[in-house]
Amino acid sequence: MSNLLKRTHMCGTLNISNVDQEVVLNGWVAKRRNLGGLIFVDLRDKTGIVQVTFDDQIPQELFEKADSLRSEYVVGIKGIVKERTAKNANIPTGEIEVFATDLVLYSEAETPPIYIKDDDNVDDNLRLKYRYLDLRKNKMQRNLSFRHKVVKIARDYFDANGFTEVETPMLIKSTPEGARDYIVPSRVYPGSFYALPQSPQLFKQLLMVSGTDRYMQIVKCFRDEDLRADRQPEFTQIDIEMSFVDMDDVIAVQEGFIKKVFKEAMDMEIQTPFPRLTWDEAMERYGSDKPDTRFGFELKKLNDVVAGCDFKVFTDALANGGDVRGICIDGGSEKFSRKDIDKLTDMTKAYGAKGLVWIRVNEGEYASSVNKFFSQEQLAEIAKVFDAKVGDLIFICSDKPKVVFASLGFLRREIAGRLGLLDDKQFNLLWVIDFPMFEEDDETGDLKAMHHPFTCPKLDQLDMLDTDPVAVKANAYDIVLNGVELGGGSIRIHDKDLQAKMFEILGLTKEECDEKFGFLIEAFKYGVPPHGGLAYGLDRLIMLLLGEQSIREVIAFPKNQNAQCLVCEAPAPVDEAQLEELALELDLED
Ligand code: AMO
Repeated sequence: MSNLLKRTHMCGTLNISNVDQEVVLNGWVAKRRNLGGLIFVDLRDKTGIVQVTFDDQIPQELFEKADSLRSEYVVGIKGIVKERTAKNANIPTGEIEVFATDLVLYSEAETPPIYIKDDDNVDDNLRLKYRYLDLRKNKMQRNLSFRHKVVKIARDYFDANGFTEVETPMLIKSTPEGARDYIVPSRVYPGSFYALPQSPQLFKQLLMVSGTDRYMQIVKCFRDEDLRADRQPEFTQIDIEMSFVDMDDVIAVQEGFIKKVFKEAMDMEIQTPFPRLTWDEAMERYGSDKPDTRFGFELKKLNDVVAGCDFKVFTDALANGGDVRGICIDGGSEKFSRKDIDKLTDMTKAYGAKGLVWIRVNEGEYASSVNKFFSQEQLAEIAKVFDAKVGDLIFICSDKPKVVFASLGFLRREIAGRLGLLDDKQFNLLWVIDFPMFEEDDETGDLKAMHHPFTCPKLDQLDMLDTDPVAVKANAYDIVLNGVELGGGSIRIHDKDLQAKMFEILGLTKEECDEKFGFLIEAFKYGVPPHGGLAYGLDRLIMLLLGEQSIREVIAFPKNQNAQCLVCEAPAPVDEAQLEELALELDLED
């Protein structure tokens, strides 16, 4: 065992003000170069890299020891800080170097399977398997520190505003957030299972019944759903619930929080209040309930302009209660070839579109995929709706409203991406409010709660619950940042009769309700304050603030695309004895 050289400074913090000081550094060898009489070692810790120099003034033995260092060896170094003659503007410590006077080798290292370099371009699964090496990268350490900072800001802010952080259980009965549960078998009750919480929804409502008044929690949530860049099977929420509030109260507290995050973590002033869009408006203008407003290309409805045209695709869609809508890409004509358009059309198929119509606004004529069916005058009418000018490119989609919105919503963002309009240094925050209370299941037509069944409908629309439930709007709101749903919440139902009515509309029998949420219904008998709240996806917030493309970049040990933890190799089979203890038998035959 070697003696520990007690650290006096972190590598990345040294600068010109430390010149002539004796310092002790601990860290990893990022690089070693032997230039004959001089050995340079780049020493790394979580704060950055500093150059350590071994010259011929030091004892031969020390020089030889330095020469034996290899990448990722862990060392302690004592030395004197000197101003560099050849400065390196590429690193923050580039004005100085440390002339070593002592060196202790703590541990050797084999050649790492991945480069410890921010832009290594290595296969994702390899990065995730050797995550502890991946996390040595300065960028990853910066991401972890930044996340820590935002969590601390959250705790401080909510504390200062009267919130109490309360932990809620992880082994619970299923919560209705719409995804599949992760379940955990019970040993004590063979055949019974806990679910891991999809969110603490029911428990935070119980905390309001308990008089906790203002609750917050930084909490892990578990959802077994298809993974995407902004979705993980286990993720973290900043979860909030407040008593005696309406939507404006909840929103005001959240805007204060987000403002503080931007100020303290990003050194940026952001304007509050954030714009509010109703769900209807968000869909009409952007085709999405999480609109990205960093660029235009807003949707326009063309139903009136194309009514009675000769193009059967449009007229059939209209006859079937569908819509014809389009977007116009300023100056898009020369930027998208016929091949690009075909590719984009193909991509919208994933959103249900059967095709796209395009119109190029050329000098003196309109070229389009439907020239056979439309006169130049008719195409001019369409172009007028968009105020289109020469060089613009119009895309039109006709189908059921849901398909048209989804396809054009996707298309405008895809095109903006291709045109380089998604500036990750620009932060457009907004609220989407007045969500529909229910949505119809695509296959069965059954109603399901768009947010969750505890969300309060607009109280002046209660009479429509029986006659036209799909038209009923909810007291639900989402906070959206640059086209990503950052958080969502609602004012809850606090009337047990209305809650029972909700369950009934959702097709739950009394037995099913008792079975699933009996404890909440029971609690509601004993005095419930009006309450509401919301939850942020913490991982998404950090990802967006850092300009990262995936939440995996801001989670220390994330799952891969196949929901595996490659570090510990979970999920994994368990011993036969463990299964027996749980009274479980596997049937893996298909
Ligand atoms: P909701 O289901 O909208 O609401 O979730 C809140 C926020 O959590 C984030 N999120 C995710 N982040 C990463 N991976 C996932 N798989 C994932 N799923 C959701 C999103 C989302 O906006 N109980 C309610 C909140 C409430 O009503 O108070 C809830 O969980 O950023």
